[in-house]
Amino acid sequence: MKILLTGGAGYIGSHVATALVSSGHDVVCFDNLSNSDAAVMDRLEAITGTAIPLVEGDIRDRDAMRYVLQEYGAEAVIHFAGLKAVGESVAEPIKYYDNNVRGTLTLLEAMADCDVHTLVFSSSATVYGQPQYLPLDENHPTSATNPYGRTKLMIEEMLRDVAAADSKWRIAILRYFNPVGAHDSGLIGENPNGIPNNLMPFISRVAAGRLAELSVFGDDYDTPDGTGVRDYIHVVDLAEGHVAALEAVAKSGQPISTWNLGTGQGYSVLEMVEAFERINDVSVPYRIAPRRDGDVASCFASPERAARELGWKANRDLDAMCASSWRFERMLATRNAD
Ligand code: NAD
Ligand code: UFG
Repeated sequence: MKILLTGGAGYIGSHVATALVSSGHDVVCFDNLSNSDAAVMDRLEAITGTAIPLVEGDIRDRDAMRYVLQEYGAEAVIHFAGLKAVGESVAEPIKYYDNNVRGTLTLLEAMADCDVHTLVFSSSATVYGQPQYLPLDENHPTSATNPYGRTKLMIEEMLRDVAAADSKWRIAILRYFNPVGAHDSGLIGENPNGIPNNLMPFISRVAAGRLAELSVFGDDYDTPDGTGVRDYIHVVDLAEGHVAALEAVAKSGQPISTWNLGTGQGYSVLEMVEAFERINDVSVPYRIAPRRDGDVASCFASPERAARELGWKANRDLDAMCASSWRFERMLATRNAD
């Protein structure tokens, strides 16, 4: 298939681009580069041996979306483009509703204009809100605790209405748990601007000496060691999950499906620190800090539906997640030194 990746130059989109090319699909990326760098396209070419086109533009621009869908003959869209910082979404909600919700609406309009009806959407485990039971399956009630999460919920609901109104649509909603790690080549990975919000990039930068110490947000949760437990999933496993979901919806009789992409296994913050130090033979100094507002104690997936319906499951372990994150961090250090 010919597949358009909105936000394709970003962390997850770039890994999905490599997985799609290895599975024999044609890919075009569309990105406004608000949180990425066009240089990633050269690295994707080095990894895949294929020059993947990047069209620079914004998903809120309907004409630009129509142009790229038609010019490249896209048959399906994987929609990653969006803003994702929880704290920023609380401070600047209009920016989040505009970019994420209006952006998705404009994408849907352009897809309908161009008669493209197959869509995979990047949702998040954040839509489960405060877990009422664990592991979280797709039937768990949804709620939002911040504007970012609310944009994901609103988009999911929009997609359900769109799929109910016109049986031509084939839509996959993928609820990611905590994507970490990097491609084995070390050429692409997660490189947030400024101080990272997420645990794994923070740990990598402390290990590299770019940040002094990790703040562990709370050690008095109801978890085995008191620190927060999450379902970390290797980004290459996550990428393979997209290929499986795309291929499944494209031939499915169902207009819309929802799948968790997680491992089913939770690790605490201190287990992550210990694993990173052991695997990479580095030191990650930390101190216990107050809880972070809005955090839950534990969050992990039931990955059963994806296993049953997509024939996909994550198989890279925590060691592989930590080793690949560190390989990418060292690659960044080499690049910065050049
Ligand atoms: P990312 O910021 O690395 O990638 C998003 C890409 O979208 C960036 O390249 C950015 O420049 C682009 N973009 C943003 N707004 C745009 C717009 N209006 N028009 C065109 N391009 C635009 O983030 P990521 O981690 O790769 O996340 C991809 C998607 O997955 C996002 O929708 C995010 O909400 C979702 N998600 C991410 C995580 C995570 O932990 N990384 C977890 C759950 C869900
Ligand atoms: N943590 C720390 N110190 C840090 C950063 C994080 O102790 O500097 C802890 C958090 O308190 C939490 C765990 O590490 O217990 C994971 O935190 P992350 O910020 O890496 O991830 P979250 O689970 O909070 O959220 C992430 C994304 C959300 C997404 C969610 C899906 O940031 O956008 O996963 O499950 F919705």
